[in-house]
Amino acid sequence: MKNVIITGGSSGIGAATAQLLIEKGHRVHLMGRNQAKLSELKNQLGERCSFTVGDVRNTEDCAATYSEAKNAMGCVDVLINNAGLGIFDPLKEAKLEDWHEMVDTNIKGILNMIHLTLSELIERKGHVINLGSVASHHVFANSGIYCATKHAVLAISESLKVEHSKHIRITTICPGAVNTPFIHATKNEDLLKEYVPNFEKGLDPLNIAAQMVHVIEAPEGVNISEIIIRPGV
Ligand SMILES: NC(=O)c1ccc[n+]([C@@H]2O[C@H](COP(=O)([O-])OP(=O)(O)OC[C@H]3O[C@@H](n4cnc5c(N)ncnc54)[C@H](OP(=O)(O)O)[C@@H]3O)[C@@H](O)[C@H]2O)c1
Repeated sequence: MKNVIITGGSSGIGAATAQLLIEKGHRVHLMGRNQAKLSELKNQLGERCSFTVGDVRNTEDCAATYSEAKNAMGCVDVLINNAGLGIFDPLKEAKLEDWHEMVDTNIKGILNMIHLTLSELIERKGHVINLGSVASHHVFANSGIYCATKHAVLAISESLKVEHSKHIRITTICPGAVNTPFIHATKNEDLLKEYVPNFEKGLDPLNIAAQMVHVIEAPEGVNISEIIIRPGV
């Protein structure tokens, strides 16, 4: 049984992962900004689920999350850095504040949580799982800055691997399109019309949750560094 923090636990991949981990006998502490969704999930998932309402961009919220996670679970074995967003636009039309929001959430949010938890994770031979994307490997039009943040996520995982592969497990999960509310952070109506059908045909978030369970439950001595998972036949 592992004690798992999941940032961005209120929706999509994070919520599906919480559900599957609880079904498999683990314990989860969720973090997100949407209190109503987190309360609803806690009611569904029961005693082995707890949560903190907070924003990964805010270091005090991150500290409260870590402290409340330890109060609720006793210790932390796995950190899943899942909170993230993509706001798609051509570079020339994009708002600077949208680029800042993606960098602050997708990169600095992960760093905030790693900085807090790394010592304990090293002590416990724990596990950091970062949500990358196929955009960690490719740069696409209209989502260049999102792709830049996801390239950074992969580099952050690599940096942990270089210094700590003997002390902790580090995994980057890199999905293609997954059918979650993710695409609705984009406000550009033309792009939404083009992209929404692709995301609706995307993977089920439970497909990604199953990969999380797979890497967390890998036998002792085995670290799965990366999983790239796309919709297929
Ligand atoms: N869906 C895809 O096709 C896809 C593909 C590749 C990678 N990913 C990655 O997978 C991760 C999860 O995305 P998803 O598809 O599950 O999207 P989602 O359904 O929109 O969920 C995003 C989660 O992130 C949380 N979040 C966003 N900003 C936050 C902040 N500042 N502080 C705390 N939590 C925040 C949201 O919670 P609140 O709103 O409650 O704060 C929500 O729980 C993201 O990192 C995304 O980049 C998604």
